Amino acid sequence: MPKRPVPATARPSLSSTTPSESHTGPVSSADLDFATRAVRTGHHRTSEGEHAEPIFATSSYVFRSAAEAAARFAGEVQGNIYSRFTNPTVRAFEERLASLEGGESCVATASGMAAILATCMGLLQAGDHIVSSQSIFGSTTILFNKYLSRFGIATSYVPLSDPAAWEAAIRPETRLLFCETPSNPLTEMVDLAELAAVAHRHDCLLAVDNCFCTPALQRPLELGADLVIHSATKYLDGQGRCIGGAVVGDRKRVGEEVFGVLRTAGPTMSPFNAWIFLKGLETLELRMQAHSRSAAALAEWLAAQPAVERVHYPGRRDHPQHHLVGQQQSTGGGIVAFEVGGGRAGAWGLIDATRLLSITANLGDVKTTITHPATTTHGRLSPEERARAGIREGLVRVAVGLESVADIQTDLARGLALVAAGPASE
Ligand SMILES: Cc1ncc(COP(=O)(O)O)c(C=O)c1O
Repeated sequence: MPKRPVPATARPSLSSTTPSESHTGPVSSADLDFATRAVRTGHHRTSEGEHAEPIFATSSYVFRSAAEAAARFAGEVQGNIYSRFTNPTVRAFEERLASLEGGESCVATASGMAAILATCMGLLQAGDHIVSSQSIFGSTTILFNKYLSRFGIATSYVPLSDPAAWEAAIRPETRLLFCETPSNPLTEMVDLAELAAVAHRHDCLLAVDNCFCTPALQRPLELGADLVIHSATKYLDGQGRCIGGAVVGDRKRVGEEVFGVLRTAGPTMSPFNAWIFLKGLETLELRMQAHSRSAAALAEWLAAQPAVERVHYPGRRDHPQHHLVGQQQSTGGGIVAFEVGGGRAGAWGLIDATRLLSITANLGDVKTTITHPATTTHGRLSPEERARAGIREGLVRVAVGLESVADIQTDLARGLALVAAGPASE
């Protein structure tokens, strides 16, 4: 009996000209707008004619012969081998995200932290040095300080928005500049084109964690960055369902070096999660616009509340890097941080008074989340590290969801009244 043909699916090159299939024949992704690529790119329809992307729930793949197996393992013939590093659903997500970020290659990972780890393992070695923004996600700081340092990779920290400080911290052994913009949770920003120029003057790579903006609002590769990192757990999913991450960049560094770490060490995205993220990407642009509109309205309202001492929101004129909105990111984004009086007691009182908002550390969900960064996302940092990152006890982070802004305000107003009344009334 003849063997069933096995589709010759290779780990594809993810250039913007990757064809996507349609009934009228291949369409070049390069000809399609962002919104169309977010919905269409990456799905290579099978002979079953499915309309939605299938979930390939398989750990391995069947070869037509021993010779074909050998050829695939030797890399002489491209195609699926084993889902630690080749899975068509994961690859569809990788193609789509690469297209949206404007990168040649994307590697999907089990989490955002796995994406950062795989990037460092793939591109750095003992003796190398990282210059990082001091305003980064708490676990990233711990990864750099506690774990990478054990393997001979040192990290120096600089204020995010000061390119001169970045340049001054670069040493002969510096290989990587790492930042989030806007940062978590204070929404500080850096001029990415300027920072990329600094990096390249010193032969370094610039990696940007694009978690807060997503490619719907900001595309760091277009601004000169070399690598984009994602916690797909956040806005790429958009509905708080699963954990995942991704690295996007050029074919050599990401498609070979970071992919090599994934293939060998296995911090792999599951096909089910990849499918969730594919669905998330389809509504990403609409959601990011809606999150941004509501966050902008909430930030204005918060600034007018007597109990609020300071609002951190890129879309507000009083934000120190407000000029970058419209220049490198199209809107202010969906995250608002603000400081209330009374330190930790004030912040906790406000958070505990909410009934609608979810007290959870995640962000980028259709449901609004509220967090006390000093004791959660950044709680494992030392007090000095927290102080350096500007995270005070009275700081509250709200990731604005898609509920009505009026209902979010009503929910926060209860706690703000308590803060305004002071500790005696609690
Ligand atoms: C900016 C940023 N980067 C990376 C991560 C890590 O992502 P994950 O939780 O998917 O590992 C987070 C998580 O909160 C984050 O906020």
